[in-house]
Formats: sequence, structure tokens, C-alpha cells
Amino acid sequence: MLLVIGAKGMLGRDLMRVLPGDVRGVDIEDIDITSPESVRRLLLTLKPRVVVNCAAYTDVDGCESNTELAMRVNGEGVGNLAAATREIGALLVQLSTDYVFDGTKGTPYGEDDEVNPLSVYGKSKLLGEEMARKNSEHLIVRTQWLYGHGGKNFVETMLRLAGERKDIAVVDDQIGSPTWTLDLSLAISELIDNNCRGTYHAANRGTCSWFEFAGAIFEEAGVAMAVRPQTTAELNRPARRPLFSVLDCGKLTHDAGLELEGWREALKSYMERRSEAGLS
Ligand SMILES: NC(=O)c1ccc[n+]([C@@H]2O[C@H](COP(=O)([O-])OP(=O)(O)OC[C@H]3O[C@@H](n4cnc5c(N)ncnc54)[C@H](OP(=O)(O)O)[C@@H]3O)[C@@H](O)[C@H]2O)c1
Repeated sequence: MLLVIGAKGMLGRDLMRVLPGDVRGVDIEDIDITSPESVRRLLLTLKPRVVVNCAAYTDVDGCESNTELAMRVNGEGVGNLAAATREIGALLVQLSTDYVFDGTKGTPYGEDDEVNPLSVYGKSKLLGEEMARKNSEHLIVRTQWLYGHGGKNFVETMLRLAGERKDIAVVDDQIGSPTWTLDLSLAISELIDNNCRGTYHAANRGTCSWFEFAGAIFEEAGVAMAVRPQTTAELNRPARRPLFSVLDCGKLTHDAGLELEGWREALKSYMERRSEAGLS
């Protein structure tokens, strides 16, 4: 059996749709990953073969003022899962982030590149990686700029703002790869299926700035919105973010024979699914 933790979250929902076979999903009401007892009780009862951990404290700016909670959930919580998966001989699949990098390299980051998180969120996710690496049979999947159905994300924020105003400023000096949770879920499924272990990068192909991404979202939605470029310094958010955090996904292609579709095509598919589901 495959167990998805954080199954009601944005990525968790798509994983529940995509993972094949006997799959069970749990969330905060069934398991608190910060509690070793809660984790051990559930895993020893269910005895899954694979545990995919999507549970996390994902509010990047919120983490800056809640350091202790971020470290507990994103770091020690993974340590609890690693100990319990080790005890039952299960594989731990841990989701991580491009925010473990400082964004100064200037070319896409490989799995072995030096990490240097700029934010509390990035530090807490890095601690989670270390916990998984040290204590369990693990597969760490780093990804970035996620959007998907039922989640709080950039695409949904832009579409909401489109109904409220006629112009918007969006940062144009952060570069990454917007990634659809459905495509990422397929990649995770392939990595598990191919018995991959260690660390992998997985994101939709191609790169853009948030400014370019916003323009594409409004274009796909057929909405007239004036998008103005803004710098990260002007936006002045609590958490520092890497300016160039593109992930090199060549290892995923090499080991699992998979290349995710381009971010623009993925966005188009997502928007089509949205309108089929009656969302505007
Ligand atoms: N979103 C992105 O752009 C992005 C980018 C790179 C990597 N990631 C990583 O990808 C993974 C999935 O992200 P996501 O955006 O799908 O997350 P999400 O939508 O925020 O879902 C996380 C889920 O975990 C649950 N949770 C929080 N604390 C928990 C705890 N102590 N015990 C058990 N469950 C708990 C949350 O419940 P509540 O909602 O009730 O708190 C929520 O259902 C995370 O590891 C994240 O760090 C995300």
C-alpha cells in the first residue's frame, strides 16, 4: 500500500488521483507529523510499502515569524517519518524545494549543487531533507512554483485579482519554472515505479519570471489586465527568495525516462481542466 500524508493539500490531491494501485490518503486530522507517537501509531498500524510526505508548513512568509513551528513541521516532522518508515522497512518520499538554493549560480541547479537557503522556510525544508537522508530509505523530490486544483497558489491568486482590478504589479526579477501538480504527481509516480532513490529535481520544462507567468495566465484566461513589472526589492516580502532557482531535471529524464511538458503547455491544460470543472 502507498500512503500519502498531506492528502488534502494541493499536491496531495493530485497524487491521490495519479498514483496507481492501493493508495490511502491521510491529513492533519489523522496524523500530526510533529508527534513521534502519532506517526509511529499510524505507520505501524497501516504498514505501507511507500510513504509520500506532502505535509508541510508551506506559508513561506509566515515561516519567517514562526521559525520554531517551521522547523518542527518541515524538519523534525520528517525526522519522525524517517524513523517510523525505517522501522517498518518502507520507502520515504519527501517533497522539497528550490528554496534550498540561494539563486546566485546563474545556471540551472543540479541535485548535487551547493545548498544555501535564504529563508526560514528553505532552512526548515533543508533540515527535512537531512532528516530523510540520515535516517531512512529515501527519495527526495525537489520542485518549485507549484499550482494545482484546490490550492492556494499564484495562478488562482491572479485569477481572483482579475475579477477585482484592472492592473497589477508583478515581480520580474525572480526566474523559475511554474509547475503543475498533476505533472509533478506523474513524475513522482514514475520515480517510485522505477525504484529511484536519492535526490531528484522535477519541474515543468522552460523558465520565466513571475511577471511573464502572470501575463500567460491572463492570456489563457482571456482577461484584459495591465501587468506592470516590479522588482523583488520593491515588493519587500518578509522572506528572501532566490532570484534564479531553475532546477536541472536531467537526472529525472536519465533515470526515469521522463521529461515534464513545458510550463506554457501545462498552464494551458490546467486552464482547460479548470473551465471543464466549471471554474471561471
Ligand atoms: N507550493 C509550492 O509552490 C511548493 C514548491 C516547492 C515545494 N513544495 C513542497 O511540496 C509539498 C506539498 O506542497 P503543497 O503546496 O501541496 O502543500 P499544502 O497545500 O500546504 O498542503 C500541506 C498539507 O499538509 C498538512 N499539514 C500541515 N501541518 C501538518 C502536520 N503537522 N501534520 C500533518 N499534516 C500537516 C496541511 O494541513 P492544513 O492545511 O490543515 O495546515 C495540508 O493539508 C510540501 O512539502 C512543500 O514544501 C511546494
